Amino acid sequence: MKNSNKDNSDKTLLTKMDLSPTAALVLDFSKGLYQENELLKRYVETLDLSSAEELVKDYKAEGLYDLACEQLVNRKYMVRESALKLISEIQAKQVVIIAAGLSPLGLEIAIQTESLQTNIYEVDLEFNAKAETLMKLFPQATKRIHFLIKDITAPDLVNSFPNYDSQQPTLIIIEGITHYLTPTVFDQLLQTFRNKGKNRLVVEYAPPFDQLNVKMKSKAELAYHIIEKRYHAIGMTKYTPGQLKKIIESEHGEWIQHFTMSEVEELRTGKNHFFNPGESGWVEVATAKI
Ligand SMILES: C[S@@+](CC[C@H](N)C(=O)[O-])C[C@H]1O[C@@H](n2cnc3c(N)ncnc32)[C@H](O)[C@@H]1O
Repeated sequence: MKNSNKDNSDKTLLTKMDLSPTAALVLDFSKGLYQENELLKRYVETLDLSSAEELVKDYKAEGLYDLACEQLVNRKYMVRESALKLISEIQAKQVVIIAAGLSPLGLEIAIQTESLQTNIYEVDLEFNAKAETLMKLFPQATKRIHFLIKDITAPDLVNSFPNYDSQQPTLIIIEGITHYLTPTVFDQLLQTFRNKGKNRLVVEYAPPFDQLNVKMKSKAELAYHIIEKRYHAIGMTKYTPGQLKKIIESEHGEWIQHFTMSEVEELRTGKNHFFNPGESGWVEVATAKI
């Protein structure tokens, strides 16, 4: 966390927040999604995205930049759209964002759920700067956003959530983290949050390389190789939609659907430019009842 002295007077109260290189890359590519709402725009301006510079350089050198950018924007878009749709469907009074990091998603949801007064539980290993920044930016919404500094692999995760009611219809969002969790921990999260099909899940995951077409496969391998080599993140977890569905069903959940990149691209932009119809990319988004 750094002090931001260069901002204008009204923003001097805000601190700049550092992100990990991969999280910074996601937000650097997707910041266009947050320009229409003044609060979201100001929140994103408090993020120091400079740690993404090396990855951006590598992606540009390998000709992966545009494709990576498209997919990360699509991912953020699809997670948000799915979340808002499911919140409305179940009239969710609670949303849990697993490994929320500094993503603006909790704030977006708080803004959109004013009438429902949904409680949002953001869980991560570190949060102080985010909570402080949001408190200054948007105190009304932060009354409903709970920042919980917790290890998501802990079996008793929800026990200390303030006013959390495990019987209430709840949306669980798992984005940007399945890659780093074992299937056992993912399964444990489902066990923690399952509620006889009354809850909903949005999960973002990476399909295995051999599920991709030849051209996409080599680009995906290269993109992951760059991250694994730079940040020693060897052996990131991947799922086919079928494998994910099986785990969800083993916890008495019900698969709703999954979105390939070509579908997300069409939903977001109205056409396919980077992907042919039916094609997958490096990440996908799925929804389920749990
Ligand atoms: C790549 S970021 C994803 C952030 C956000 N979900 C998104 O998609 O933009 C991964 C986040 O997971 C958090 N994280 C990793 N392991 C964790 C754990 N065991 N418990 C809680 N948070 C964890 C990190 O602190 C980081 O904020």
